[in-house]
Amino acid sequence: MSVLSALAIANYRSLRRLVLPLGQLTLVTGANGSGKSSVYRALRLLAAVAQGGVVRALAREGGLASTLWAGPEQFSAAMRRGEQPVQGTQRNGPVSLQLGFGSDAADGYGYAIDIGLPIPRSTSVFNHDPEIKREAVWNGPFMRPASLLVERRGAALRIRRDGQGGGWEGVARPIPAFASMMTEYAEPRAAPEMLSLREQIRGWRFYDHFRSDADAPARVPQLGTTTTVLGDDGSDLAAAWQTIREIGDRAALDAAVQDAFPGAQVEIDLQGERFALRMRQHGLLRPLDAAELSDGTLRYLLWIAALLTPRPPALLVLNEPETSLHPDLLPALGRLIAQAARASQVIVVTHAPRLLAALDGPAPDTQRLELHKPLGETQLAGLEMDRIPRWEWLAR
Ligand SMILES: Nc1ncnc2c1ncn2[C@@H]1O[C@H](COP(=O)(O)OP(=O)(O)OP(=O)(O)O)[C@@H](O)[C@H]1O
Ligand SMILES: [Mg+2]
Repeated sequence: MSVLSALAIANYRSLRRLVLPLGQLTLVTGANGSGKSSVYRALRLLAAVAQGGVVRALAREGGLASTLWAGPEQFSAAMRRGEQPVQGTQRNGPVSLQLGFGSDAADGYGYAIDIGLPIPRSTSVFNHDPEIKREAVWNGPFMRPASLLVERRGAALRIRRDGQGGGWEGVARPIPAFASMMTEYAEPRAAPEMLSLREQIRGWRFYDHFRSDADAPARVPQLGTTTTVLGDDGSDLAAAWQTIREIGDRAALDAAVQDAFPGAQVEIDLQGERFALRMRQHGLLRPLDAAELSDGTLRYLLWIAALLTPRPPALLVLNEPETSLHPDLLPALGRLIAQAARASQVIVVTHAPRLLAALDGPAPDTQRLELHKPLGETQLAGLEMDRIPRWEWLAR
């Protein structure tokens, strides 16, 4: 398993320049507006690169101009002391949104991307589309010239022959400005590291606010097939549950239900070809259908199915899993997350103190990161300099 050791983000919303150390389990917390969701969204953008959709994903967020850091390029010392108002100055450097990660696993790769604005041409109506300016794949926790494996500058791509240490070979075909080299260049013999990295990123899994309203897909019986990965809308909950029973850790599944709802039992019924989830609860004469469960109960069952997946991903990212759960359920959720962190690297964005308390301590290699936002810029609070990973930003 290759573990990400650092996540780097520049000029994305309030994240002007941020390098986060990552552990096997990373807890990201902070006050409202400190930048937690932006960290989550930056990770999703990175994942979109490997799917070939980063430019489109940026457009969905309102375009590069709106996602870019809206503060000044630099803060003067007087601005930081509050003696001078924060003012924009003449922009000197190019617009550059950067995302990247490094790995300190023996066979771990790092990747970084630099997205900017095009040099205006009059021939195309897509003049304002963001462009991928640079990309790099390397071996190790941060980029070094000696560990570079694949490098893109504008449309030009070059690949190190025979991996690290070999000479460079240019790729004749130009890479279009809107496409990542990871999806555009798929020559397994020439760049096996890049393809394996792409597949690794495609396996990253994100869960963000399961629906639990009256029309939520998880409340309706659904056609089911073997489902090793719960969909992010939760529609395949019953099939995923049954799959864990048959090929996953059935004992852990039952224990997770007991931990949160003592005395309750979850059953999967087949209605024709449709799978329906029911829950027997203490004191009730008949089981309740998924349609009758409370929001919090349904959400919790969704988390159980997501976290006890029989096919754990390399990286699992959870955004505010505490949403609409009763605080009494948070210690059990914490235990479930700690268990998932034994099989996957897990990043949790949360502002629930009880969840944090439950996750503090038991798991080794836990990074607890607190964000704060002085002068509109997200920073890590109370972290000693030597815990901030080294990072080399891409230069144009
Ligand atoms: N382009 C931008 N430049 C600078 N700051 C921005 C930009 N876009 C948004 N912000 C600020 O970034 C901050 C971080 O927002 P984010 O949603 O990540 O916070 P959060 O920690 O998730 O908060 P909450 O706990 O309320 O969900 C917001 O206060 C917002 O004002
Ligand atoms: Mg948020």
